[in-house]
Amino acid sequence: MRIINNAKDLAEAVSTARQHGKQIAFVPTMGALHDGHISLVELAKQNADFVVVSIFVNPLQFSANEDFDKYPRNLQADAEKLAAVGVDIVFAPTVDEVYPNGDAITQHAGPIGKIFEGQIRPDHFDGMLTVVARLFDIVQPDAAVFGKKDAQQLFLIQRMVEHSNHRWNKLKIIAAPIIREESGLAMSSRNQYLTQEELELAGTIHSALLSAKEGVASERLRAVEANLSPAIRLDYVAMVNPNSFEPIDDSFSGQALLLIAARVGSTRLLDNLSITI
Ligand code: PAJ
Repeated sequence: MRIINNAKDLAEAVSTARQHGKQIAFVPTMGALHDGHISLVELAKQNADFVVVSIFVNPLQFSANEDFDKYPRNLQADAEKLAAVGVDIVFAPTVDEVYPNGDAITQHAGPIGKIFEGQIRPDHFDGMLTVVARLFDIVQPDAAVFGKKDAQQLFLIQRMVEHSNHRWNKLKIIAAPIIREESGLAMSSRNQYLTQEELELAGTIHSALLSAKEGVASERLRAVEANLSPAIRLDYVAMVNPNSFEPIDDSFSGQALLLIAARVGSTRLLDNLSITI
């Protein structure tokens, strides 16, 4: 496994692999890797024969009051995990390498980027799409894997690629299932911020989602709220149509996505569940 820090060397290594007939799969991450990230790598390996993982904490997707400075960074431990699962290249660039012309926003998430996560984190999705587009330009993968845990992110990336006018030739986006702790808590790099007591509380987010078993959309949303511990502060709980990411009403039937964002102590956690109404 090679660790590459600059875009030119990365592009060369990928192009050599391609000349050898390899299919390239790409897994973008911000590091602090857990089993959720590793499951994405496994999926990448099933879909290609050369896997690139990026580790880059993207300043553009954090606002001033967020955790950019304290976001966990541990390149050595991450590299060991990735070597153990047979990754070919770790791309760990500096900010200047990713944004050589300054860090201007180049992608706009539009109205769906302004609701749910986008309402609470203004500009987050524009910054996220900007780095993903830049990384796709550098890596030029055949496939890229993203987790369903960040459902709104996944939706916006899929839409960016569909509307990109083939900027990334034949790029296939692969959606990976949510990997959870035994308690049901969705794995996240930010779970490291939680104390033991908070971890136990956070486990109930998933069980609250599972309580939305019956009824129309509004009844299910009420069930989630009723089953959430009062010690968890809800940012939003919503039911959307996964094809449009727009909220559904009680006349909806079919496959829906139940979204939740909540704070445990000072840590924001996201989760979601696909349900049939
Ligand atoms: P990060 O939070 O490091 O997540 C990297 C990828 O891992 C994302 O696709 C995310 O959805 C996926 N992931 C995280 N936890 C998961 C879990 N429990 N189960 C399955 N997949 C999980 O998301 C980002 O980084 C950034 O926004 C990025 C796309 C890298 C752009 O900066």
